[in-house]
Amino acid sequence: SRAEACTVVIFGATGDLTHRKLVPALYNLAVDGELPHGVKIIGFARREKSDAVFREGLEELNKEVSRSGHDASLWEEYKESIHYHQSEFTDIDGYQRLAERLDAIDRERGGVGNRLFYIASAPEFFDVILENLKAVGLSEAADGAWARVIVEKPFGTDLATAQHLNKVVNNTFAEKDTYRIDHYLGKETAQNIMVLRFANAIFEPLWNNKHIEQVQITCAEHLGMEGGRGGYYDKAGALRDMVQNHLLQLLSLVAMEPPTDLSADGVRDEKVKVLRSLRQLNSPELIKQNVVRAQYTAGHVDAKQVVGYREEDRVDPESMTEAYVALRMHVDTWRWSGVPFYLRVGKRLPKKATEISIHFKSPPNVLFNATPGANEGGNVLVIRIQPDEGISLRMVSKLPGTSLRMEPVKMDFHYATSFGKGSPEAYERLLLDAMAGDATLFARRDEVEEAWKYIDHIERAWHESEVKPPMAEFVAGSWGPKEADDLLEQDGNSWRRL
Ligand code: BG6
Repeated sequence: SRAEACTVVIFGATGDLTHRKLVPALYNLAVDGELPHGVKIIGFARREKSDAVFREGLEELNKEVSRSGHDASLWEEYKESIHYHQSEFTDIDGYQRLAERLDAIDRERGGVGNRLFYIASAPEFFDVILENLKAVGLSEAADGAWARVIVEKPFGTDLATAQHLNKVVNNTFAEKDTYRIDHYLGKETAQNIMVLRFANAIFEPLWNNKHIEQVQITCAEHLGMEGGRGGYYDKAGALRDMVQNHLLQLLSLVAMEPPTDLSADGVRDEKVKVLRSLRQLNSPELIKQNVVRAQYTAGHVDAKQVVGYREEDRVDPESMTEAYVALRMHVDTWRWSGVPFYLRVGKRLPKKATEISIHFKSPPNVLFNATPGANEGGNVLVIRIQPDEGISLRMVSKLPGTSLRMEPVKMDFHYATSFGKGSPEAYERLLLDAMAGDATLFARRDEVEEAWKYIDHIERAWHESEVKPPMAEFVAGSWGPKEADDLLEQDGNSWRRL
C-alpha cells in the first residue's frame, strides 16, 4: 500500500512533539521524496498565532533537529503547505471553521479530501476533540476518501481510562481508521526483530525455553526532568510512561509466535497473545518479589552535577513516583515456560541506550570445564534498538596461542557500517504508514487494554495497598538500585553491562 495525499490536522500544534518530531518528520519525508504530493498540514491550537509566526517557530526547531539537515530553499517551498488554525479544543465553532478550511483545501487540490487527524494535545482534551470532530461530521470521509485518526500517548492512565478512551475513539472512528501510536514500533531496529527472527533460519529453532535461559530488555536514559517534563512525569512514573507501552511492545515482538501473514491483524493477533499470557502480579506479595521501583538521588551524569528526583523542577518534594523500575516477568506460553524476562527502565542512568539481550543456555559442561575462561558466560544475542543500531552475537573463542584459553568475542552488525546511512526517524515511518492505511506498527485496542491490565496490578499495590512496597534509591548516573541487582541475583543472573 502506498501513502496517499491528505491534509494532516495536528491538535496540540504548539507543543513540543509537533515542533521536535512531527513537522521535522514530514519535512524529512518531503526531502527524501517520500511524502505524497499535495500533503498539507494544519496546526490546531489555542494560542493566537499567524501562519507566519507558526512557521517561523517550526523552522527554528527544524534547523536544530532535522535528520536531513535544513535546506533554506526547500523549507521555503515546504512551509507553504503549513497553516495554523486557532481555536479552543472545546469550541465547536472552531471545528466548523476547520471543516470549511478543509473543504477549501480539497477544492484547491482538486481531488478527494483525505484527512489525517493527529491528536497530540494534553490528554484531558482527547475526548472532547474526538466528540467535536464527530459533531461537525469530520470523522466521516467523503466518497472515495478516508478520514483517519492518530492518537498520541498517553492512551489512558489505567485500564478503566483506556477502555473509556477506546470507547470514545471507536464511537468516532472505525477501528481500522484508528492509529494508536507507539513510536518505539516505528524504530528501525524494532521492526527488524521480526525480520531477524522469521527471515533467518538459525535463530527460530533456538528461540524457546529449551535454549534460552533469560531475556533482558533495558531502556536507559541519561536525561532527567528537563524542560518542565516533571509536571507530566511525576504523575505518570516509569511504569506508565515506558513499560505499559514501549517495553511491553518490544517484549511482544520478541516473544510472539510467527504470524500467519504480515497483515496488521496477522501481526497484532500474535502480539496480543503474548500480552494475554503475561503472568499477572496480582498480589502485593508477588509485586514485592518481582518489581523494584526507585528514585535517583543527586549525582553526576555526563560529568555534570544533577539533582535528585525529588528536587527536580515540578516534582513533588515528597513524590512517591518511580523514575526507575525493574521487573521480573513471565510469559506463560509453551515456548517461554520457565524463562524469566527482566525489564528495566529509568531516567538519569549513565547513558541513553535501549537494547534487548537474549541469553542462551550454557552448553553441556563436559569438555572445557577446566579451561581458563570457560565461565566467561555463554552466547548472548544483543539487539541494540538505539543508539548504534545493530545486532551482535557473543560467543567464546580460543585465544590464539599455544595453550588452551578461551575468551568472549563478538560478531557485530552495525546499521551505520552495513548500510552506510542512518535510519529514518520513527515518526517518519509511522506517519507514512497512516497515510497508506497500514496499522501494523500501531497498537490495537486489545493490546493497549491487555497491557494496562498487567500494569494496573502493580500501580494499585504501589499506591493503594495497606503496606506499600518500598521506594529504592540510586545515585544519579549509576546503573540503578542495588535491589534491582538482587532481583536477578536471586535467580543466579545479573544485568548485562551496557
Ligand atoms: C516517551 C516518554 O514516550 O519516550 C519519555 O514519554 C521518553 O519519557 C521517550 O524520554 C523516549 O523515547 P526515545 O525515542 O528517545 O527513546
